[in-house]
Amino acid sequence: MLALETSCDETAAAVVRDGVDVLSSVVASQYDLHAEYAGVVPEIASRAHVEAILPVVREALEHAGVGLGMVDAIAVGNRPGLIGSLLVGVAAAKSLAWSLGKPLIGVDHVAAHVYSGMLESRDPAMFPALGLVVSGGHTAMYHVASWTQMHRVGATIDDAMGEAYDKVAMMMKLPHPGGPNLDQLASDARANDKVFDLPVSRLSTTSLDFSFSGLKTSVLYTLRGVPGERGGTSGIALTDETSRNLAASFQRAACKAVTIKLTRAIEQAREKGVVYRSLLCGGGVTANSRLRRELLGFEKSHGLVVRLPAMRYCMDNAAMIGGLGEQLLRSGRRDDMSLQATPTISIPAVQQGA
Ligand code: KG4
Ligand code: ZN
Repeated sequence: MLALETSCDETAAAVVRDGVDVLSSVVASQYDLHAEYAGVVPEIASRAHVEAILPVVREALEHAGVGLGMVDAIAVGNRPGLIGSLLVGVAAAKSLAWSLGKPLIGVDHVAAHVYSGMLESRDPAMFPALGLVVSGGHTAMYHVASWTQMHRVGATIDDAMGEAYDKVAMMMKLPHPGGPNLDQLASDARANDKVFDLPVSRLSTTSLDFSFSGLKTSVLYTLRGVPGERGGTSGIALTDETSRNLAASFQRAACKAVTIKLTRAIEQAREKGVVYRSLLCGGGVTANSRLRRELLGFEKSHGLVVRLPAMRYCMDNAAMIGGLGEQLLRSGRRDDMSLQATPTISIPAVQQGA
């Protein structure tokens, strides 16, 4: 399976065998192009994808040691994402599939993150599974009945978790990439995660949704002080010590918000007679050291098989697209030249009461 991924600011191609063996995975980051704007500029991203896509595909084939003639099918991340960026991958995938006379399969990028922990493993998937995607653009949980049947059970109502990491890192004047740098600071052996009492959002006693904007604002107030009638409070000075304690306190609250909602989802499902057998995690923030530890803790505390992606498959990549693409193809899914790039989220929400 030759897979392409261009939904945001990484141009990626991979060759995957049997849905799990990654023969090559090439990711060309556009980071330098967007750095001065402190965010991804869609028009710049799509132009850069046009320039990078063919060299990246060529490199993926070369690394895998396969020629185009040996490719059995083409998978492409066609939803959700930046429309101009998605269009480049979809057009390239259609051209390849058409000229080679091979099947084409469109893959949901978020569902592919849920799949990413299956890569390079021979262990079969265990359904029903609870899926978790925590990235720069998405933070949501999914009921995964099979690779072709996923429903969203909860999602962030404001910032994605990675977005909160990146914004807090910016407030703390940490260099890019914000998330990994904040993680590193928080992981310093001298860091104390109880120095700052930051809020953990629960939303209500039963909600499975997430919210990270309150936590983010709370860090801002900690740093700048709170304006108030009697002069308010003043902010803290960012020394090495306060920085690492604030980073650790933020990380503790952010991870807690995730584990609370996972526990709720598992318990609420059990009340309806659904016993999850595995926890499938993916997205850039699953590279976070503390979150990985806490997620693995669900093996013992809830008897779940926890599938965490290898570090190289946490961030956007095409191997996850190829892996899930293979599963979809096996289940009979196939697309044709009418395949569209779709910017909006396509995994449906679970029906109320279901
Ligand atoms: O999955 P991804 O590449 O892009 C989206 O599909 O959104 O995720 C990127 C996000 C960024 O927000 C980045 O800061 C975050 O993942 N991230 C981390 C860590 N590594 C990457 N956040 C916290 N700790 C990390 N170690
Ligand atoms: Zn992603």
